[in-house]
Amino acid sequence: MRSDAAAALAGLVLAGAAHAQPQPAGAAACTPCHGPGGNSPTPAIPSIAGQPRLFIENQLVLIREGLRDVPAMKAVMGGLGDAEIVSLAQHFAAQPALAPPGPVQADRFRAGAEVSGRALCGTCHLPGYVGQNQIPRLAGQHEAYLAATMKMYRDNPAPGRDTAMSAVLYGLKDTDLDHLAHYFAHFAHFAHFAHFGK
Ligand code: HEC
Ligand code: HEC
Repeated sequence: MRSDAAAALAGLVLAGAAHAQPQPAGAAACTPCHGPGGNSPTPAIPSIAGQPRLFIENQLVLIREGLRDVPAMKAVMGGLGDAEIVSLAQHFAAQPALAPPGPVQADRFRAGAEVSGRALCGTCHLPGYVGQNQIPRLAGQHEAYLAATMKMYRDNPAPGRDTAMSAVLYGLKDTDLDHLAHYFAHFAHFAHFAHFGK
């Protein structure tokens, strides 16, 4: 039994290795902030692993053109051409997203689920919150980043960020947004990540 299991695991590892693609040249420049494979170790910096390819591509273009203002990324984005953006997006979209650490608080999780259901967040972000096309995955994203970003959409809709998001969050209280952030951060339906690599 034990050797069968070991053989199966070895097979899995080999299968994984066979699928592994070399990372595009520019990707190393992202690691200091977005973490290895795009899983950010820093609560205020979003993970980009497993985001829809088109979402990453769009955001990189918006950030490069200065339409979405991310001062931290100015230095790395300046020299990136469209082809490099396409391959970076493909690379990070195909990386497995790890859930950020931190225990689930059942009451806050339930409160977040209730607000999300009422506000129909799943109509665009999909019921598993995995995102699609230009719409980001929320499941497994850092709670602190999600909370700060939602407050930004609600209070200070910035150029280059989607106006639909400001509209759906209008009128929600800070506690609603904190509950939503807790809910999404711990929403672990990773099995639904059907868009990997697409
Ligand atoms: C010096 C730190 C830093 C580096 C290096 C960096 N980023 Fe970022 N990135 C950030 C921060 C901070 C944000 C979030 C800004 C905000 O709050 O709106 C961000 C946001 C993003 C987003 C939007 C994610 C989302 O969920 O909205 C993408 C995509 C992204 N970065 C990709 C990259 C890629 C690809 C690279 C490498 C070419 C890179 N970044 C390098 C700090 C960095
Ligand atoms: C009409 C479609 C739509 C609906 C409904 C919607 N979203 Fe979004 N959401 C988007 C789009 C598009 C983006 C990317 C926005 C951008 O480019 O600025 C986004 C971005 C976000 C982000 C930023 C994530 C990141 O990584 O930067 C958060 C957080 C978010 N939405 C939460 C919510 C919540 C909470 C609800 C329900 C109250 C909701 N969304 C409902 C379309 C929608």
